[in-house]
Amino acid sequence: MNDIGNVDYQGLIPNNVDLARDTRVKHALERWHPGYLNWWSDMGPEGFQEKLVYLRTAVSVDPKGWAKFDYVRMPEYKWGILLAPAVPDRKIGFGAHKGEPAWQEVPGEYRAMLRRLIVIQGDTEPASVEQQRALGKTAPSLYDMRNLFQVNVEEGRHLWAMVYLLQKYFGADGREEAEELLARRSGDPDTPRMLGAFNEKTPDWLSFFMFTYFTDRDGKMQLEALARSGFDPLSRTCRFMLTEEAHHMFVGETGVGRIVERTCQAMQEAGVEDPHDIARVRKLGVIDLPTLQKKANLHFSLTLDLFGSEISTNAANAFHAGLKGRFREERIDDDHVLERGTYPVLRLKDGNIVNEDVPALSGLNMRLRDDYVTDCNVGVARWNAVIDKYGVKFKIKLPHVAFHRHIGEFAAVHAEADGTILAEAEWEKRRDEFLPSAGDRAFIEGLMQPQYEPGKFAGWIAPPKVGIDNKPGDFEYVKVA
Ligand SMILES: [Fe+2]
Ligand SMILES: [Fe+2]
Repeated sequence: MNDIGNVDYQGLIPNNVDLARDTRVKHALERWHPGYLNWWSDMGPEGFQEKLVYLRTAVSVDPKGWAKFDYVRMPEYKWGILLAPAVPDRKIGFGAHKGEPAWQEVPGEYRAMLRRLIVIQGDTEPASVEQQRALGKTAPSLYDMRNLFQVNVEEGRHLWAMVYLLQKYFGADGREEAEELLARRSGDPDTPRMLGAFNEKTPDWLSFFMFTYFTDRDGKMQLEALARSGFDPLSRTCRFMLTEEAHHMFVGETGVGRIVERTCQAMQEAGVEDPHDIARVRKLGVIDLPTLQKKANLHFSLTLDLFGSEISTNAANAFHAGLKGRFREERIDDDHVLERGTYPVLRLKDGNIVNEDVPALSGLNMRLRDDYVTDCNVGVARWNAVIDKYGVKFKIKLPHVAFHRHIGEFAAVHAEADGTILAEAEWEKRRDEFLPSAGDRAFIEGLMQPQYEPGKFAGWIAPPKVGIDNKPGDFEYVKVA
């Protein structure tokens, strides 16, 4: 078996898992393939399926050479099964089986738990493609359109990655789950996707950038935790997915950053000093910073719900079993078993938010969420540095974790962005201060006019600092004409 080298592109399904010799799985995947292509044509990017897009495709999982750029029609993209190289003699790094050799087959006692983890991760991948399918029509540039489609084809590949695990390791019920992953639809009242944030709409490009910044970053955290899994095929799959995921968050961070830049620039040019003078800023055809803040509030809070309840037996069980670790588990200085020790969790007690130490195993969702918030703040600081550069008096700030929650400790209360608890009526009255109003949404949607000319950008977003694959500014990333 060729672990590290090039990907086999001979068959229908590019792979580095020696599918040619694994005929049972190969046939199962070949049977699944037409359904996948049907799903892509029904639910993938609308209106651009026949256009040539300058995309990167993995031709090797070698860190130096895995991305090769070329023009391709999206339905002909090489969706493949790519695992990161095996670590020789890898050992389980945490939980009850710490120190034992990593599993190459599904451990029988944890089969159901493991399948559930894979299905939940798998379900998010096609969901975001569905959410983003209309955005090509309003792309602010060909550069941005390419990035959107790159993210979309890679989310499609991530679905393949999870389906491979289901088909190879879970027999008949794995096949059933693989079919259902193609049957659910984001936002469908009867067959929705499994997690809330993946049933929300992504109606405009600001939403897309916020989604890739905040929600793809949840994906990163989950993949980081699963990359530590004692089930080695899952670990290797997730490790390779993370290399692709980094680009998605880059798209989000720089997308929002370029909007911030353009807004500040337009304000400076027009001599508008007050960032809260929304009417004047909007007249310049750019998105005012308070509305950006509200969008960040929305996407951040929806994404926090993806981490589940702060105190969770499922998370404890998955860690104890060695299936899902912590963010950068190997760098944490403790026993990696967590049968003793505590973790501080924010809780709601008698209507107040208090910090409480809970058993470390029970607080694992909270811990991953804390790591996520730290990671989110890095990009927010970069956005604020842009604002500072223009001397605008405004700071983007992530809302309190109790703000606008539907899952966990704070689902029962309403809180303003700073965490102050509000009575229901007060919240209803002031909601539009914290979250995008109908008017805000209409304003943003009104700005979404396509710009398909190479090298040109819509007026509400600054060009990127450098092109993709070092291409010049006027490069034709998508052949739209
Ligand atoms: Fe993904
Ligand atoms: Fe992603």
